[in-house]
Amino acid sequence: MCSLEKILVIGSANVDFVVDVEDMPALGETLLCKEFQKVPGGKGANQAYACGRLGGDTMFLSVVGRDELGDVLIENLKRANVCTKAIRQAGQANTGMAIVYVDHAGDNSIVVVPGANSLCDVAYLEQNLRYIEDSSIVLLQMEIPFESVCYAVRRAKALGKTVILNPAPVPEYIPEDIYQGLDFITPNESEFKRLTGCPSEELEDIAAYGQKLLAQGVRHVIVTLGGRGAILITQEGWQCYPPPSVKVVDTTAAGDTFNAALARKLAEGCTPQEAIQFANYASALAVSKPGAQPSIPSYAEVVQFIQSTR
Ligand code: RIB
Repeated sequence: MCSLEKILVIGSANVDFVVDVEDMPALGETLLCKEFQKVPGGKGANQAYACGRLGGDTMFLSVVGRDELGDVLIENLKRANVCTKAIRQAGQANTGMAIVYVDHAGDNSIVVVPGANSLCDVAYLEQNLRYIEDSSIVLLQMEIPFESVCYAVRRAKALGKTVILNPAPVPEYIPEDIYQGLDFITPNESEFKRLTGCPSEELEDIAAYGQKLLAQGVRHVIVTLGGRGAILITQEGWQCYPPPSVKVVDTTAAGDTFNAALARKLAEGCTPQEAIQFANYASALAVSKPGAQPSIPSYAEVVQFIQSTR
């Protein structure tokens, strides 16, 4: 394998309590379901796990509780070869949790109880600054305190790193210097709509509204479009990359897998276009299986899948 640049993922770690429902509960409705599954999740941990599964040289900064769920999350990351040595196990909070409803179409609704993720603060990141210095690519999402994300983006950019922000969930406001620090921003359609006000699902409109983010200083805008793949918008123009078709079982962690695969291929020296196409295949495999981390494919599985569709 060629030499890979180091990827640092900074973000949340949750245990997901997954409840399968036929349809999402309506307001005021009570539903009965047979059972729930408990699986490793959290956008940050999913992205770190996926980078590791996809063969990336991956380090993860995160805070979990000093409890059994925290141990389970760390052990799972280790199984994917993620370096977990700087993950903090805090005594004063429980490991983050998420309630994930998955309906018959594989779509989900998620409620997160951050717990120890709230302790992934600027002081913790300052203590671990050497890992930002040590990496080439820094991958972030928004399930840790907002100031921590801003701190990491500013530090990483000042150090000349490639910064990828998956703005999930979308914050109320992103300061201009944060946009300027982003090499890639990777919202899904609803996040993109909230960020830019784009009223339409037409690709031409998405491309036009993507200009707003470019004007703020982002270098590459990638909007993930579910079954339509992903659109890349840059100063040079835009292009949509359709995904392979698969039977959708559960979309949880599809975006996380996409972001990780993007980072993994950039770490190999691939172009954004090549990285997006690989990421489409990786996330297609993720939606064809249930759960967050249990659905994330290995590098070999993605390569085999690509070859099988040629
Ligand atoms: O992106 C999916 C993840 O969002 C879930 O694993 C859940 O924990 C929430 O963070």
